[in-house]
Amino acid sequence: MVRVSLILLVLGSVLIGWTSSHQESGDWSCESDSGIRVQAEFRPGIVTLDGHADDWNDIDGFEFSLLPALDPDDDKEYKGGKMTVKALHDGKDLFFLLQVDGDYAYAKGNNNKCPSVALMFPIGDHATYHNMGGCKEGTNSCTSKTCKGHEVDMMHFSIGNAIPGRLYGGNLIDNRDGNGGDRFGHLVDLYAWNPHCRYIDGIGPSGNDSSAQNNWKGAWWHTIFTDHSGFVEEDSPYGSDGQKGTYLFEFSRPLRTMDRLQQDAQFTISGSSKMAVAFWYPVDGNPWHGSGHFSINCDWIPLDISPSSSMLSPGGSGDVGGAIALLFSVVSLCISVFVGYRVARPKGIPFTPVGTTMENL
Ligand SMILES: *[C@@H]1O[C@H](CO)[C@@H](O)[C@H](O)[C@H]1NC(C)=O
Repeated sequence: MVRVSLILLVLGSVLIGWTSSHQESGDWSCESDSGIRVQAEFRPGIVTLDGHADDWNDIDGFEFSLLPALDPDDDKEYKGGKMTVKALHDGKDLFFLLQVDGDYAYAKGNNNKCPSVALMFPIGDHATYHNMGGCKEGTNSCTSKTCKGHEVDMMHFSIGNAIPGRLYGGNLIDNRDGNGGDRFGHLVDLYAWNPHCRYIDGIGPSGNDSSAQNNWKGAWWHTIFTDHSGFVEEDSPYGSDGQKGTYLFEFSRPLRTMDRLQQDAQFTISGSSKMAVAFWYPVDGNPWHGSGHFSINCDWIPLDISPSSSMLSPGGSGDVGGAIALLFSVVSLCISVFVGYRVARPKGIPFTPVGTTMENL
């Protein structure tokens, strides 16, 4: 089978590190199911960015198997369970919830012995899922010019230093430095042209630009934690290892950012984008390495950003009623201002009965 031999080729070339993982000879093949997509509905004011999932109960999720990203073989599926992806937007920010079953594993300060997640979106027109944008240049020759069109946008959250339920990502100190870093919780904003040319926003091979920002925010949680007024660092490991439950990762980002460097994807209401989700887990307690991630698909997954449905839906009679009521109240306000003006006119001008005024309207 062609796929198996490809997999062997990939396996034969696995090197340590996410950045040095794509030394493939041979063509990449992916049988992506064309029916899958993630929809971000307009649902303002529902979710709080705290890592908890109950506020997402009314939002439909999309369930995916997690296969090794570099070796998408069904036999090597992540054994803990599927990943459910939920998305919505509030007209300003886009929100994501990732839910994945997994026994609790946490090693404070050691990101590779904790689960981790990343999101990826194309920016350039030629940005492929495979090879993180797919620019053919190597580490010494990739630049914003030689790899133009291959830009992908990424968010990576490593939780080894992140307290569950607390917010990480863009913060005043790193954003003042003008890059996509996060020194507190390692929820970073990155871009790449291929796996070897991957940088924090604002940092680049031919110089840095201090106009970049970390536009992401996020939190994580695990369902074995008992609800709490708030964890602090000293509470780590927050729960006992090996307990069954579900990891939750919640993120938000503005639909549009002030990026001027092609380092952020931009999202449009009623528009369609694409996304990918990666997941790392310390299987059997072994630290993961960068290229050992699972992925929800072997290609991009369409991401639809829905408009407010009440503006489109013909069944939205409540909204039509509301619009008519508003129209009436505006008209009656105008009439009362007009009447008030006529009534309050200075003396000496003959009084005009209200009825007459109405008829003259
Ligand atoms: C860019 O920033 C990185 C990280 O702070 C630093 O290591 C590098 O030296 C900087 N490059 C230039 C050209 O200033």
